[in-house]
Amino acid sequence: MSILGALFIAACVYLVLFSLYNGIGPMPTSQSVKKALLSKLIDLKSPIIELGTGWGTLTVLLAKKFPGKQIIAYENSWIPYFFSKIRLLKYTQVTLLYKDFWEEDLSNSGTIICYLYPKAMERLKIKFEKELSPSTLVVTHTFAIPGWRPTETLQADDLYRTPIYHYRVN
Ligand SMILES: C[S@@+](CC[C@H](N)C(=O)[O-])C[C@H]1O[C@@H](n2cnc3c(N)ncnc32)[C@H](O)[C@@H]1O
Repeated sequence: MSILGALFIAACVYLVLFSLYNGIGPMPTSQSVKKALLSKLIDLKSPIIELGTGWGTLTVLLAKKFPGKQIIAYENSWIPYFFSKIRLLKYTQVTLLYKDFWEEDLSNSGTIICYLYPKAMERLKIKFEKELSPSTLVVTHTFAIPGWRPTETLQADDLYRTPIYHYRVN
């Protein structure tokens, strides 16, 4: 096997193992969800915090839509982090952190955006209720925050009618 082949397999194994560790892989937000999501995001309070940037798909979208806003994005998986670091170089308002967001204090967030998984939403509910102020907007898609009532729910124009939730801390 060539060195490139071995590196490719090692990268795939790393991605699979880290996705198991995190509970989710770096799946990007789909085109239809991005479209629906942007349709109602007019003016976001900064800093905009993205929990898990993956390949940087949503981060680029936010940076283009809100060029004057500070964006802080977290990613703790090395390969997507490195890819996004390069992809986001030209967006000077973006700070990409190679960190586990569970270990961060989110109390200074203006807006939080994430696309995670059900167990993370349960855990984030507790973290948000402890750390966020009532003025923080939380935007999440696909998975809801259990027990919270959204201030708005949008639907993507896709097969699953993927929901996009807007919340303020309950
Ligand atoms: C489904 S992807 C979403 C990517 C991007 N936000 C998007 O919507 O296109 C979730 C990402 O969150 C990252 N992630 C999960 N748990 C994390 C944690 N505790 N700290 C930092 N990143 C995390 C994963 O590695 C993955 O890349």
